Amino acid sequence: MSLMKHHAKVETNVFLLLIGILVTVAIGGLVEIVPLFTIESTIEKVKGVRPYSPLELAGRNIYIREGCYNCHSQMIRPFRDEVERYGHYSLAAESMYDHPFQWGSKRTGPDLARVGGKYSNDWHVRHLIDPREVVPESIMPGYRHLAKRPLDFADASDHLKTLRLVGVPYTDEMIVNAKADLEAQAAPDADTEGVAARYPKASLGDADGNPAITEMDALVAYLQVLGRMVDFETFKPEQALR
Ligand code: HEC
Repeated sequence: MSLMKHHAKVETNVFLLLIGILVTVAIGGLVEIVPLFTIESTIEKVKGVRPYSPLELAGRNIYIREGCYNCHSQMIRPFRDEVERYGHYSLAAESMYDHPFQWGSKRTGPDLARVGGKYSNDWHVRHLIDPREVVPESIMPGYRHLAKRPLDFADASDHLKTLRLVGVPYTDEMIVNAKADLEAQAAPDADTEGVAARYPKASLGDADGNPAITEMDALVAYLQVLGRMVDFETFKPEQALR
């Protein structure tokens, strides 16, 4: 009975009610926010996820420059139709080194989060030069110019250094070797030992058959690594939870 009386006091006094609401909301807020300060990252690490190789990174920059994200998302949602069409749903860790991320919200074309390894390099080059040659009903624009434009990679190590500033774990060795790794990844008979060790699963070799390193080579190297870093044969979601 006395509790009811106190309750009436709070409900009929706007200041008491306000203070009551503030205290309640503050407790709720603290419970949600404080634990976040005790952990280093809200993204669980997953085995296999690595920073992009210098060539893949250059390709990613071209992907952004050309506006591919206007038609393509890179995030497979955990719904049955998406998983059946595109493969395992995207993990947060898979885009933890993307600055900015390419999740996107527009799918004029298909999601590209797992397009790596789906087609040959040759298919990608032909498709990017003239999409209708390989997919007759395609409405995607052609990017013929990429095969003719030499890739400008004089500043390859600066790109790695900049990303390191925002937390991408590029090592000194990766930064020192950035240009050499880029050239080795794109050349058909190069000594690829270093780049293959530093960037497992990187797609090696000349993509477009043009002996110069072109923007096309970089873009295809990028497309070929998308979604392939994590091995989903062995991945178990509970590992990700630590
Ligand atoms: C105007 C919209 C549009 C833009 C811009 C666009 N695409 Fe596409 N893309 C499509 C459509 C539609 C398809 C499906 C038909 C086809 O395969 O060509 C597609 C298909 C693809 C595929 C094959 C995907 C699969 O799983 O079969 C790749 C790879 C691709 N695009 C890459 C790119 C890249 C790289 C760029 C930027 C250089 C780009 N697209 C720009 C619309 C677009």
